[in-house]
Amino acid sequence: MSAVSSVSASEGTSPDNPAPLIEPPRARTARTPKATRTNFELYGWVFMRLSGIVLVVLVLGHLLIQLVLDGGVSKVSFAFVAGRWASPFWMAWDLIMLWLAMLHGANGLRTIINDYAQRDGTRFWLKMLLYTATVFTVLLGTLVIFTFDPNIR
Ligand code: HEM
Repeated sequence: MSAVSSVSASEGTSPDNPAPLIEPPRARTARTPKATRTNFELYGWVFMRLSGIVLVVLVLGHLLIQLVLDGGVSKVSFAFVAGRWASPFWMAWDLIMLWLAMLHGANGLRTIINDYAQRDGTRFWLKMLLYTATVFTVLLGTLVIFTFDPNIR
């Protein structure tokens, strides 16, 4: 029997509204654990949608430039990257794409781990691995974009 149908049909009903009244399952009470009293998951949900919209533009534009226009992928070389990163516009494009894709992907994987990891220890260590990889990649990518030297030998 589901949680909904376990509520007796007469509970909370009135002649005007025959539907049973069901208490919201996640109503916050004094006994709600502190960790779940914030709106973190709501903001995470909104972030996935907003970053997804921005990523459509950034990622499709990136793929078009790198893989389709001007002879496709064969034109991508050190000189090509150096030419693009001479412009603050493309540096900003790549930086925002890096940060949004990493945070979007990491938050998505965090949700998947929370959904599927059954043991507390497994969930904890998978998320630690995810956060470590995310911080490492974001910092390394940011460092490369800002310290790129076109005259390197
Ligand atoms: C190109 C534009 C993209 C759009 C429009 C987009 C959109 C979305 C949306 C709306 C969700 C939430 C789905 C849900 O809550 O049910 C999501 C989840 C996710 N996204 Fe993206 N995304 C994009 C790119 C990316 C990229 C580049 C990555 C990887 C770096 C990624 C990895 C993920 C992951 C792992 C999830 C979680 C999936 C799940 O909960 O089952 N997405 N995406």
